[in-house]
Amino acid sequence: MSELISKIQKLKNERRAIILAHNYQLPEVQDIAGYHGDSLELSRVASRTDAKVIIFCGVHFMAETASILCPDKIILMPDINAGCPMANMITATDLRELKARHPKAMVVGYVNTSADVKAELDICCTSTNAVEVVNSLKNAEEIIFVPDKYLADFVSKRTGRRLISWDGYCPTHVKIMPEDIIRQIRIHPKAKVVVHPECIPEVIALADEALSTGKMCKYAKESNAKEFIIGTEVGIIHRLQKDNPGKKFYPASELAICPNMKRTNLEKILWSLEEMKEEVRVPEDIRAKARKAIDRMLAIK
Ligand code: 13P
Ligand code: SF4
Repeated sequence: MSELISKIQKLKNERRAIILAHNYQLPEVQDIAGYHGDSLELSRVASRTDAKVIIFCGVHFMAETASILCPDKIILMPDINAGCPMANMITATDLRELKARHPKAMVVGYVNTSADVKAELDICCTSTNAVEVVNSLKNAEEIIFVPDKYLADFVSKRTGRRLISWDGYCPTHVKIMPEDIIRQIRIHPKAKVVVHPECIPEVIALADEALSTGKMCKYAKESNAKEFIIGTEVGIIHRLQKDNPGKKFYPASELAICPNMKRTNLEKILWSLEEMKEEVRVPEDIRAKARKAIDRMLAIK
């Protein structure tokens, strides 16, 4: 074990901390983490742990979600500048203006939003449960769905509901092109094609499945297929390969890298534990409102 890794392990125990890593983190960060998963899975782990301190290796909105769910814990980010450009594409003011134009609409917001925006929602969703969340709003005359226009399109097609969307998108997932999928299918004709619902509709149309990162990991384990073309951020390949040594995983595009997810490294994790920085804490008034939108989601699935 390298000196850096043993220092992290020792300090982690002294601080009664746990390390959570999103599926897109660097391989060495995933390997040192006690838990990895998608945005919802990580928040659930955060809310159930006895640990006092959570080192959150992901992006800012994920650490905020953990803070909303567990205000009694210390949530630390090894790199506070790891943000999500999609989450930054809508502000609470933008959403209040949109709501004012559609006063009767129910407001659904992707978990990839700031806590300020979550405080304006009726209900939150993740890529795991977005279809079920919209289906739960049977009596809504109108539905606003922010900020990802491609996830909105995917959910609209699956639910048959017209959604009022926002012009947000993930700059990493839009790099995956239909040509990339077609090329990979030509090279690996037996492979299943699995993509994230943040991909553009033309890519989703070519896929066997459109799944959140957590569901992708489950699907890969349970499927009888031996080869998979993966249309999401390339960091997930490490976990898929590790969990399924007998199977093969091919990234749809090597360009699908989220620079923010790669900001966290082992040196920064050690610094975070040593200095107990940078803390992410959502102010109580915002937290209470945002919590309602998350709880409503958790009651569904
Ligand atoms: P998941 O919840 O599927 O892990 O997605 C988070 C994300 O940021 C995808 O780009
Ligand atoms: Fe945000 Fe896209 Fe990065 Fe996910 S991959 S954190 S949606 S920028």
